[in-house]
Amino acid sequence: MNDVRVAASLLSADPLRLREEALSVKEAGVQLLHLDVMDGHFVPPLTYGPGVAEGLWALGIPLDVHLMVNCLDYAVPAFAPFSACLTVHAEATAHLHRVLQDIRERGCKTGMALNPATSPDFLPHVIDLVDLVLVMTVNPGWGGQSYIPEMVDKVAWVKSLIARQRRHIDVEVDGGITGDNAAALIEAGADILVSGSYLFRAPDRRKAVASLTALSPR
Ligand code: DX5
Ligand code: ZN
Repeated sequence: MNDVRVAASLLSADPLRLREEALSVKEAGVQLLHLDVMDGHFVPPLTYGPGVAEGLWALGIPLDVHLMVNCLDYAVPAFAPFSACLTVHAEATAHLHRVLQDIRERGCKTGMALNPATSPDFLPHVIDLVDLVLVMTVNPGWGGQSYIPEMVDKVAWVKSLIARQRRHIDVEVDGGITGDNAAALIEAGADILVSGSYLFRAPDRRKAVASLTALSPR
């Protein structure tokens, strides 16, 4: 529980100053940059292409790439060279096992994301191929949405599946995370907290990072 990390979701950063924003949140204490890639199909909005990932990768801060896209045959090879961890949605492919194998062979950590309505039941069947499970705490597509409190139980469920299989797999939570709900998610088993609007809109970003990782109930 001591090494909970924060990943800054650049979706809430100033899009014309991504470099400065990335360096600012690094300075504020985040361990990872989280890049939300959207294709206008899996989710309605469109966001970044691999050129943006390449530029951020050059900053030397670990890049946590969250693919909300259908065309993984394009996106996996395009983003893998610039990803420390490359996460795909379980709902986006009928061939999750093969996609995870492909990501691992490209030298990235592998992430599997689950929409709020998706059960983690099949995790045991791909467990040897997964380094991270991303539990969506909002429906994907937009920053600034309200967190779905029922997802706390899902985090605990995923954590217990991982413990039962005696694996070291990170549990990441993404969407609507604030200083008010982070402690409950950490207690349920979250290892990485994605933070977008809460962090980027905070008057003091260092304090915002500290408030996310403090375990005491608020
Ligand atoms: C939503 C994205 C999130 C989002 C988080 O689809 O995956 O990463 O940017 O933003 P907040 O923290 O504002 O909910
Ligand atoms: Zn995300």
